[in-house]
Amino acid sequence: MEKCKRDKEGFGKLLNYEVENNVISIEFNNKKVFVNVVNSHIINFFAPLFREERNSKAVENLKDSHCDFEIENIADGIQLLTEKLTVRIYDEFKVDIYDKKGTLLCADYRGEKDPFIRRKGDFMLAEAEGHALNNDEEFKVYVSKQMEEDMFFYGLGERSGHLNKRGYHYVNWNTDNPAPHGETFDRLYKSIPFLIGLNKGNAFGIFFDNHFETHFDMGRDNSKYYYFAGVDGNLDYYFIYGPSVKNVVEGYTKITGNMPLPQMWTLGYQQCRWSYDNKARLMEIANNFREKGIPCDTLYLDIDYMDGYRVFTWNNERFNNLEEMIKKLNSMGFKVVTIIDPGVKVDKGYKIYDDGLKNGYFATDNQGIVYRNEVWPGDSVYPDFLNSEVRKWWGENQRIMTEAGVSGIWNDMNEPASFKGPLPDDVMFDNDGIPVTHKEVHNVYGHMMAKATYEGLKKATGKRPFIVTRACYAGTQKYSTIWTGDNQSTWEHLRMSIPMLMNLGLSGMAFCGTDVGGFGHDCSAELLSRWVQVGTFTPLFRNHSAMGTRDQEPWAFDESTEEINKKYIKLRYKLIPYIYDSMWNCSKNGAPIIRPLLFNYQNDKNTYEINDEFLCGENILVAPVVEQGAKARMIYLPEGETWVDYWTKEEYRGGQYIIRETPLDICPIFIKGGSIISVAEEQNYIGEKNSNKLTFEVFLCNEETETKYHHFTDDGESFKYQAGEFNNYKIKVINNNNKVEIKVKIIDYEYDDKFTHIEFIFNNINERAVTINGEAIEIIDGKAIIPNLVSNKEFV
Ligand code: GLC
Repeated sequence: MEKCKRDKEGFGKLLNYEVENNVISIEFNNKKVFVNVVNSHIINFFAPLFREERNSKAVENLKDSHCDFEIENIADGIQLLTEKLTVRIYDEFKVDIYDKKGTLLCADYRGEKDPFIRRKGDFMLAEAEGHALNNDEEFKVYVSKQMEEDMFFYGLGERSGHLNKRGYHYVNWNTDNPAPHGETFDRLYKSIPFLIGLNKGNAFGIFFDNHFETHFDMGRDNSKYYYFAGVDGNLDYYFIYGPSVKNVVEGYTKITGNMPLPQMWTLGYQQCRWSYDNKARLMEIANNFREKGIPCDTLYLDIDYMDGYRVFTWNNERFNNLEEMIKKLNSMGFKVVTIIDPGVKVDKGYKIYDDGLKNGYFATDNQGIVYRNEVWPGDSVYPDFLNSEVRKWWGENQRIMTEAGVSGIWNDMNEPASFKGPLPDDVMFDNDGIPVTHKEVHNVYGHMMAKATYEGLKKATGKRPFIVTRACYAGTQKYSTIWTGDNQSTWEHLRMSIPMLMNLGLSGMAFCGTDVGGFGHDCSAELLSRWVQVGTFTPLFRNHSAMGTRDQEPWAFDESTEEINKKYIKLRYKLIPYIYDSMWNCSKNGAPIIRPLLFNYQNDKNTYEINDEFLCGENILVAPVVEQGAKARMIYLPEGETWVDYWTKEEYRGGQYIIRETPLDICPIFIKGGSIISVAEEQNYIGEKNSNKLTFEVFLCNEETETKYHHFTDDGESFKYQAGEFNNYKIKVINNNNKVEIKVKIIDYEYDDKFTHIEFIFNNINERAVTINGEAIEIIDGKAIIPNLVSNKEFV
């Protein structure tokens, strides 16, 4: 590990160590550090350079599982051996980590920081004043690792640019920059200091749990090393061993928490606009969806629903009789989600402001005077979400919304945004008795707001809270979904959204989405058609656009655009059970819904840098069109599978590039040969129809295959599943050229899901005979129906 630069002295010579439970405390000449064996493949390295105690907002309930390890002296240091890893620790807290075969996974770099020289003439210096041109930042915490030739990097949350982050430098400092986001942006709204490295097929993760401004440099400085660094704070990082990216993500979500299962309706299509600013317009939108038969579950109210942008109030002129309006929308099958920003209007007589002021709930300057800046309501103050009492108060205020019928909350502007220049570093917050500065907690402000909202909504409704937040930190997935902020209606932004969402998924934020159609700028008919095709497969599927831009609803262009929107939104509704199954899976092991091909096909190197294709769950590969006018596109199909074209049912062997024609209504979709997709019947909103059958589509192919699928059902909204009230159907499909054997087993059956039949729809069945649990089944029109599901004991 590199020198600790806090006081320009290193850690010094390794003198001694002690072991207590899972923690090895190591005494160096200048500092004491702690190495915590979280389990056999996750090791935490902690040096209290700033505070003795951790102040982690990401890691909340991590329990050390008992793990056997050995520790022994080696030449120049000590060696820690777990079942999976060998960790060697030397003078200066240098650390090298090996797998059990002795392969070096991650080694501290021994050389000095040696950044490239940025040549600046006098002219450039004058021109560029105020721009970040220097790469000679001084960090108080700095760790550099040896870069191998063939390394790839992923993760780091919300980033513009490509999937692989090698060669780039990124900053974690939550930032609301309204300029069109481009590849040159080194920071956006979110900070997730979690990096995945892939080195000769071996993946590992580094989670640097430090919420000061932190930097990650993947060889931009110098291709001999990569580093992570913080302007202040503790050295506190976790090494998470793979060797698969899957294991790394699972390990990371074990540390920072899993995304909880969402309510089912949140997976439907969502329509937003800044703003549907009066009742008549909102009802017109709602009626249009139902009249046109375009499915939709959620309508949003942006800031104009409020009284002068005062949070937790309503504009009674524009939305008179609001509760009745929401009831009406609910009866039509819509849920209403409202925006709540953190900025509280300075306004004597406004309850939220008065209560907050009286109780000392707002951030102050360094003299203890309430700090003001400006956001939408004009002069505003910032609730201190670091304080648990403030979070409770904020949480309780959510009832104002839920009692009016609101079903979810959209937390925006929580970087926090400020129109009159950035908040100074020394704006003060109260971390439950510990005074903390803005400099320390900026990156967790949105995270703590989301936590307050989550806890409040949970208490108010007893249901799984639905929150969308713009700012976040590592671990926000426990509380909220995210969207990627103010993108633009440009092809460049559609293209960029794919690697961005894939890296967010790898960074624990599995429930994510972009503004479909783009927020700023006017969308075009073709762009919306292509964007909705991507949105169909993204966990959060929300069309949103800015004030002053052209209308962007599915019908806002012409008939053929409306038809394409309808076709794909309907496809989304068909896939809801499959997406819900993927969510259930994710809630247990962190596997993202939208994920890069390498997540499932790490042995196939061709997948490592594919930016314009993704997997949706385990079985669907999507290769969307992200170029205007593209009549065809090249698609890479990963090795080791046969891929079935969803539209034509043609089969392709994996491990090849193919060209697929792409008329505007076709988004290329491929299903893994032999696999199952659980599907729903057509409906206008989730829960409109109560079918009594479960339907599985089986995509057969000419290769012999054996696949497994788990289908999950529960009430789709409460927390009862946590007490075991759910069903788990396990289905196995063994397919060869002349027969298909299906085995269905109900592993858990604690929820009365009212399904009495299972239907299998076979694609590419040809002349194959089918047995289900050993019995020959008649196939009519490619379908088989098995009745009396639950009473049929052999399934249970
Ligand atoms: C911010 C949000 C955007 C929202 C607007 C008005 O720009 O990112 O989604 O519509 O504020 O509230």
